[in-house]
Amino acid sequence: MKPKVFISRMIPQEGLDLVLAACDAEVNTADTHLSQAQLIDRVRDKAGLLCLLTDEIDEAILAASPQLKVVANVAVGFNNIDVAAATRRKIMVTNTPGVLDHTTADFAWCLLLASARRLVEADRYTRAGKYTGWGIMLLCGEDVYGKTLGICGLGRIGRGVAKRARGFDMKILYTDAIRAPVEVERELGAQYVDKETLFREADFVTLHVPLLPETHHYVSAKELALMKKTAHLINASRGPVVDEAALVQALRERRIGGAGLDVYEYEPKLTPGLTELDNVTLAPHIASASVETRTKMAVMAATNLVDALQGRRPPNLVNPEVLA
Ligand code: DGY
Repeated sequence: MKPKVFISRMIPQEGLDLVLAACDAEVNTADTHLSQAQLIDRVRDKAGLLCLLTDEIDEAILAASPQLKVVANVAVGFNNIDVAAATRRKIMVTNTPGVLDHTTADFAWCLLLASARRLVEADRYTRAGKYTGWGIMLLCGEDVYGKTLGICGLGRIGRGVAKRARGFDMKILYTDAIRAPVEVERELGAQYVDKETLFREADFVTLHVPLLPETHHYVSAKELALMKKTAHLINASRGPVVDEAALVQALRERRIGGAGLDVYEYEPKLTPGLTELDNVTLAPHIASASVETRTKMAVMAATNLVDALQGRRPPNLVNPEVLA
């Protein structure tokens, strides 16, 4: 008999096909966000759950599902899952690392360039029919070439962002909880500095840290106050890493040059005031959203789910302790 699984949202067909071939799958074909009560109802008799980062998989859902063996997240981040509670119940948790690094690094750059050169503002201006003639001071932004880039978190994505910065001949500073090996620093031309130095010296600060209790509000009023008046903040990591109310205030008072955001503290809700500002570029959490990458993520999550249910060790197990 095939194991019963629940797929919480629609995913790219290649991933879906893998699950359908190996499992007795119930799919949320309505593709709507499910509440905790709805998830409990749909998962309670399942051995596997394939979910997205928008599904809050908490202790109550895990406790109500005695047959659950694996929760396969279609995301590299897994802060939406109570991993400690899953581990206590011997439930495997998996994620999708690696396949989205380049796409996400590309998008961090997309936000950086858009913010520095006021691209979205320029697009709105042009569409509104306001472009009536070339102007020497029209929509002037900040140069990127030759400036200083500050990378917070030199993991796979942070390194990808650094690699791209070399083409812009930038000075690269980074900070991280653990310093990278010297060979990596040398290869990337990246210099390790403390957090305060990075925020003081960088023209562009880009965030690539995971959301952990210690990175909640990693950027608060204090860090924003250290930044140059012309500096830009880029966030394609997780929303709660930035104190969004403090950011709105800094942008409103023009205490920093601008920001490019793909993620939000109370996603999908935006902090009041954010949409009224012209010095912020806003995207709806699409840093990994290329057709190729989202397909790879779905296939990877499906492989993790099926492997776990067929008695193999899933390739991207977040809590290997459960197999001990
Ligand atoms: C992730 O995978 O964690 C991203 O936020 C979405 O691709």
